[in-house]
Amino acid sequence: MTLDDIVKAAFAAAFPGVETPGLRVVPATDPKFGDYQCNDALKIAKKVGMKPRDAAQKVADALDKACFEKVEVAGPGFLNLTVRGDWIAQRLSELAKADKCGIPQSGKGKRVVIDYSSPNAAKQMHIGHIRSTVIGCSIDRIFRSLGYDVIADNHLGDWGTQFGILIKGYRECLTDEERANLTVANLEKCYVLSAAKAKEEDGVWKDACRAELVKLQQGDKENLALWKRFIEISIGEFERMYAKLGVKFDTYRGESFYNPLMPGVVEKLVKAGLAVESEGALVVNLENENLGVAIVRKSDGGYNYTTSDLACVEKRVEDYDPERIIYVTDDRQKLHFAQFFSICAKLGQKVKLVHVPFGLMSYQGKAISTREGNLIRLDDLLSEAVRRAYDIVKERGGSEELAAQIGIGAVKYADLSHDPATAIDFNWDKALALEGNSGPYLQYAHARVCSLLAKAGGVDAAPEGFIIATEPEKRLALQLLEFPGAVVRAAEAYKPSVLAEYLFQTAQLYSSFYQNTPVLKSEEPVRTARLKLCRLFGEIVKMALSLLGIEAPEHI
Ligand code: ARG
Repeated sequence: MTLDDIVKAAFAAAFPGVETPGLRVVPATDPKFGDYQCNDALKIAKKVGMKPRDAAQKVADALDKACFEKVEVAGPGFLNLTVRGDWIAQRLSELAKADKCGIPQSGKGKRVVIDYSSPNAAKQMHIGHIRSTVIGCSIDRIFRSLGYDVIADNHLGDWGTQFGILIKGYRECLTDEERANLTVANLEKCYVLSAAKAKEEDGVWKDACRAELVKLQQGDKENLALWKRFIEISIGEFERMYAKLGVKFDTYRGESFYNPLMPGVVEKLVKAGLAVESEGALVVNLENENLGVAIVRKSDGGYNYTTSDLACVEKRVEDYDPERIIYVTDDRQKLHFAQFFSICAKLGQKVKLVHVPFGLMSYQGKAISTREGNLIRLDDLLSEAVRRAYDIVKERGGSEELAAQIGIGAVKYADLSHDPATAIDFNWDKALALEGNSGPYLQYAHARVCSLLAKAGGVDAAPEGFIIATEPEKRLALQLLEFPGAVVRAAEAYKPSVLAEYLFQTAQLYSSFYQNTPVLKSEEPVRTARLKLCRLFGEIVKMALSLLGIEAPEHI
């Protein structure tokens, strides 16, 4: 029985027939108040017309004494609970026995689509793409761990006016050799050259770009083939980055995929009386919700980002029937998502839509911008991370593979340790610090446990046999028991940072346990019991790191 169930049972025994919806037992804010706390006696006192402290006392008397060393009624009627060591030991055995470190399979039978990374085609990925990729990947892993059937969908920006500019640039701004060995770097180069020419006053180049675009849109064979080639090359390059980052997508349905569906969506909006003409364009008025006006068909007849996302929801529902769709993008797109979510609701769309917005990232204290010239390529950032990590591990004989695990992990953790909603600064010294709240620190904590267990010459595999006697053991054990709850909280908030924070606290409690408690040198059966606690810590760190998309090497 979980602690929640035990306390619920006491409430039911003390107040038969009175419901306690949302009853919560939470870890105490300070160990001097015990291990856990429950404030629900205050609520029930109101319901039954009793003094809160008396109600709390009644629950205290009904609590199963086999679990508690001490139960105290405090303040206006709080219950402060101190659990017994043998009860904790029992719970640890259950946790050690459970699959996936006890993560509840609450997502079984439910499907979610997660739309993340989603870069624009024909451009190289840069440092600004880290957040969506890394946060999205972790949310993806967290939901999978809960048993959800996740479809990771990369909503590529692969359609739009830029392709007219690109096709024209490809034909006229590249050498034969560049065209033969086309790379994303060359595509980017011809785009820049062509876009500059499109700004020339006579407008000749611009008109030519426009003509190429129209041909493409009308299905011209040659332009369509070029466009396809651009997209294939782009995806190839993106996948090279994703391989470095350990990210995998189930589908790459870009904006173009939804293109044929847009007229139908607009027709539906018109039929439903939601879209109306305004200055030649078709718009949905959302002023009642303070969301302004959303254009769904421009005055030139073209569709836009909103139309495309509306079509996309419909198609995802039709093809996958998910219970929710999660979008991870920067917070400048907040209005876009609020608008199109609102339109979906008006259309009667039932699927739950969630936008996970993240703040801007700066680099070493400076804003990232093309103009500043510090738009660092993602490839270069990752290479530098690996190079810097290699400098650290090579003295100990670490391999390049290890350097990649540490360097990439450091980049990811530097992001994931912050609430997605906040702006962050990427700083090399902080990301790669061996002490403090960093990826390498956590990987190192894991590797140290692995070597401790190796040094012990193996530990009895049975999940039973925990002994919780000292305070540091108890603190660590109670924290380990919170792991499944931390995963659930991270998923509910769509914030990997919740898990990162849990992980860092856990590592700190482990280190104070380890510094204050002899393990290898203690007598049996305590020695084995402590080794089991260490092993469980190692397993949970490894699992938590993997949910953040970070590798956990055994030797550092
Ligand atoms: N390609 C877009 C960008 O680079 C992100 C797409 C996000 N997904 C979506 N369904 N709108 O900003």
